[in-house]
Amino acid sequence: MDRIVITGGKPLRGRVKIGGAKNASLAVLCASILSRETIVLDNIPNISDVRVLIEIINSMGARATWENIDTLKIIPSELVNVEAPYHLVKKLRASNLLLGPVLARFGRAQIAMPGGCNIGVRPMDLHFKGLAGLGAELSTERGYVSGRVPGRLKGARIYLDFPSVGATENIMMAACLAVGQTLIENSAKEPEVVDLANFLNSIGARVRGAGTDVIKIDGMPNLEVGCRYSIIPDRIEAGTFMVAAAATGGDVTLENLIPVHLEPLSAKLREANVDVFEGEDTLRVKAERMLRPIDIKTMPYPGFPTDMQSQLMAMLSTTPGTSMIIENIFENRFMVANELKRMGARIKVEGRMAVIEGVPALHGAQVKATDLRSGAALIVAGLMATGETEIFNAVYIDRGYHNLEEKLGSLGATLWRK
Ligand code: EPZ
Repeated sequence: MDRIVITGGKPLRGRVKIGGAKNASLAVLCASILSRETIVLDNIPNISDVRVLIEIINSMGARATWENIDTLKIIPSELVNVEAPYHLVKKLRASNLLLGPVLARFGRAQIAMPGGCNIGVRPMDLHFKGLAGLGAELSTERGYVSGRVPGRLKGARIYLDFPSVGATENIMMAACLAVGQTLIENSAKEPEVVDLANFLNSIGARVRGAGTDVIKIDGMPNLEVGCRYSIIPDRIEAGTFMVAAAATGGDVTLENLIPVHLEPLSAKLREANVDVFEGEDTLRVKAERMLRPIDIKTMPYPGFPTDMQSQLMAMLSTTPGTSMIIENIFENRFMVANELKRMGARIKVEGRMAVIEGVPALHGAQVKATDLRSGAALIVAGLMATGETEIFNAVYIDRGYHNLEEKLGSLGATLWRK
């Protein structure tokens, strides 16, 4: 059952509800460790990355249970085990976000290093520099990062050489329990960082400035406020459906999202001759005219998101003319080009640049996902292609998309798992 088969060539039409944000959920789940009180989280997507993190947090002594389809209840209690074991961490690199909260709450941590993944080496130097700046003593040995805090963490001024999402989040979480004030400068501004800050404030922290490039955190002795918190909608799931609608010449209305989070993509789709109509918590994507070629540069938010780059590459494969993508965030995020070429695409990759020559049509083929978003891109390509496409390693797609087949099926797509 690790393959998805798609019979393509049909425009997507109808309405689809977007789920909670994977990347906000993972950060907020790690942050829940900071609290001494029970927490209830709504709009949590039941995807494999979230299930793995729940397994890790429960292995450390918390009790996280599903209250219903997208609501989690977490009783942090006194976590007994500050180690996140490799056999679980290797399944989920975002478990590196446990380092900051575990260090801050318990004064020590033993977190397996998640290692690289297909899209890049994924170093943690900025995480370590920031946490060391707060007074943590960190060492890495045998694939684990061990940390200890003599006394308590102390607030500090931390400058991030690059606005790393994960480093911003790890430092922000740790600073919540430091003595004094922390400034994170050149911080990441992604909506998921803002959602994490809002969650932290709802459990009694004092975080200001999230969403700008300076975040100010006033440390507290403890976080003893229980809360019920709803995670923001997933802008990348939404973007994936928007691109699928545009790529198939469809007309799809997405519900339960925050339009401003999609502005970088909406602007690019309009540039490509697609109509994007904005509602209060909806976006309608209508592609009834021929697409125009566009150029994309991925950048930290509010620039064009790297997590949408592969999906657009699929759409641009049949856009008449020459399009260009420059990937500025990860060093190896063009692997899907080789799979798209098996479907007839004409793409030339040179380092951080990919040049796409639009072809009249893609044809179905057997292809393989190499990471979550390349898998999503192959779904888009399969929906566009004539004939049948069989996507191997569908398990990558399950990491970040809940009920994808059902949602696409409700929009008129023909696809099944085998
Ligand atoms: C988060 O990863 C997301 N993951 C990624 O989404 C997303 O692509 C990325 O941010 C960029 O938006 C989660 O939130 C769980 P970074 P993260 O630290 O935090 C370099 C998806 O598909 N860097 O902003 O790991 C790094 O190598 C995933 O949902 C350092 O050099 O991203 C990369 O080139 C994929 N040193 C760049 O910064 C560090 O210490 C961006 O990384 C940290 C990062």
